[in-house]
This record gives sequence, structure tokens and C-alpha cells, in this order.
Amino acid sequence: MVPRQKLHVRGPEVSRLAWGAWRALKGEETKTPPGLARFIDRCVEIGITTIDLADIYGGFAVEGHLGAALRESASGRDAIEIVTKFGIRPVGPARPHNREKHYDAGRTHIFASVENSLKEIGTDRLDLLLLHRPDFLAPAEETARALEDLVASGKVLAVGVSNHAPAQVSLLQSRMTVPIVTNQVEMSLMRLDALDDGTLAQAQQDDAAPMIWSPLGGGRLANPEDATARPVREALAKAGARYGIDDIAAVAIAWLLRLPSRPVPIIGSTRFDRVQSIARACTMALEAQDWYRILAAARGPLA
Ligand SMILES: NC(=O)c1ccc[n+]([C@@H]2O[C@H](COP(=O)([O-])OP(=O)(O)OC[C@H]3O[C@@H](n4cnc5c(N)ncnc54)[C@H](OP(=O)(O)O)[C@@H]3O)[C@@H](O)[C@H]2O)c1
Repeated sequence: MVPRQKLHVRGPEVSRLAWGAWRALKGEETKTPPGLARFIDRCVEIGITTIDLADIYGGFAVEGHLGAALRESASGRDAIEIVTKFGIRPVGPARPHNREKHYDAGRTHIFASVENSLKEIGTDRLDLLLLHRPDFLAPAEETARALEDLVASGKVLAVGVSNHAPAQVSLLQSRMTVPIVTNQVEMSLMRLDALDDGTLAQAQQDDAAPMIWSPLGGGRLANPEDATARPVREALAKAGARYGIDDIAAVAIAWLLRLPSRPVPIIGSTRFDRVQSIARACTMALEAQDWYRILAAARGPLA
């Protein structure tokens, strides 16, 4: 079973691995509501209960797709934690009034977006709401007040951010009494900025576990045709052999799980056999020397 942890001391509790619904409408197993219902039931059976969404996924169609699936699933709404995001306003047929793509963390949009997400998913509460990207024009006080009011209303149980620099997290937190429980950031052996740019240090300092998107580099790490990732794949395979895990994707996730900031990787595969194989990462405690060997394969020998 995939274990559980709190993102922050004040909640919420999540599964140590989340599943990301971004690609749901493209996967053979997940593109229909009954298929997604079965997929989620199987994830819940192995302990993956945290589902990551955003209003914009699938051209604003994925939240409704999940809602339809939940109505057919055996496990149902109460068996999962729903994470969704707001704040990116793209141009497209689902939002004809947007003239230019922009970010919006203003009060009116936050409330409208949450009401829409609740309606699409068919639920009375979001376990976690994230500001998808920083809005350079929204005063921190305004965003903070709106998020606090949503938590007070019970429609949102916890709040966080995504793709924020550490100073941007600190600014918003300085205006709010409810905690920012996570900063959801891109990280993988193909994208290591968070190690050095203060993101993981801040997460550990605030005891707010980061959520990690594209933890396999969007699939590049597992793709044998991607030449850039070849040295990393070789290092992952070698470590996997040492620990009896024959899936480099699982070892790549175990590499992230080893970090002391307690990251929650969001698995993006739409194939349950792959998700199940990756879940073995939770049983694998990489020794420090194996961890550093993999790091060196990703970005060159240590100084
Ligand atoms: N906050 C943000 O700004 C942001 C941005 C992007 C994504 N996200 C979240 O992060 C989640 C994960 O992102 P991601 O989909 O890029 O994650 P990922 O796990 O890095 O990549 C998943 C992709 O890799 C492919 N893949 C190929 N071989 C695989 C293998 N052996 N094992 C597993 N996957 C393999 C999958 O294809 P198959 O489906 O065919 O297995 C899928 O297309 C998203 O669903 C979304 O919830 C957040």
C-alpha cells in the first residue's frame, strides 16, 4: 500500500504518491468516465487517493470528466482527496471572453473559479486549492483574503500555490493566517532547479511538503529514444538492480521520495500497470551514495 502523510501539520493528509489527471482525456484507460472510474478505483485499492487537477486541464473538460467518473466509481468522492487549481486564463472556445492569455489571482476570479470547479466535479468541497501561477498584478492582500474566506466557508479545506518562487510564497504567506500547505513545482532528474533555488529548502523550513509535477520529465526519463536522458536511465537501472526494482520510472520516483522535504510526486501515466509498478518506489529507501550517483549522472560529477 502507498503510505500517507500530511502535507503540513495543519493538513491535509494525502497519499505519498498522487495521480495527475492532466492527460486523462488522452489515455486509452482513462478517456471515458467508466474507464476513469475503474482506473481511480484501482488507484484507491493500492493507496493512491490524491487526484491532481486544474480548471484548465483538457480545455476545461477534465474536472467534469472526473465528476462523471466519480459518479460511476465504486470508491466515490469520499475515498479521494481532490486537488485543483485556478489562476490561468487562456484563450480558447471554452472561455471566449479572454482576449489574451493571462493570470488572475483576484478575488472575483478566485470565487468564480472555485464555484465552477465544485459544479464540474460535483462536490461540495475541494480538499486543496492551488494558485496555478503567480499573478504579477494581484496584490498579495487581495489573494490572501479571498483564500482565507474560502477556507472559512468550508468550500476549500486547504490552500497552496504552484510554480511560485520562494519569495513569492513568503509574500503571500505573510498576508495570511491559514498555511500555504504546498508549493507544487516541476522537478525530475531532467529538471533539478528546485534543489538549488531555495524551493525545497523553503518547503523543509515551513514543513510544507512540495508536490512534484512531471516527475518523469513528462515521460522523457522513461523514453529509450531520448538520448539526453540515457546516462540517467543507466544509473537508475543500475540502482534498481541493487534494490530488486526492474522499473527505472519507479527508481526515479524513489529518488524524489528520498528528499527530506517529503515531496509528493504526481504520477502522470494513464496506464494503471505503470502506476502500480511506480508505486513500488515507496518501498525503496535509496542509500545516500546511490542517490548521489544518480544525481551525478543527471548533471555531471559532484564538485
Ligand atoms: N502545476 C503545474 O503547473 C503542472 C504542470 C504540468 C503537470 N502538472 C500535474 O502533474 C501531473 C504529472 O505530470 P506528467 O504527466 O508530465 O508526469 P510524468 O509522470 O513525468 O509523465 C507522464 C507521461 O510519461 C509517459 N510515460 C512513458 N513511459 C512511462 C513509464 N514507464 N512510466 C510512467 N509514465 C510513462 C506517460 O504515458 P502513459 O500515459 O502512456 O503511461 C505520460 O504521458 C499532471 O497530470 C498534472 O496533474 C502540474
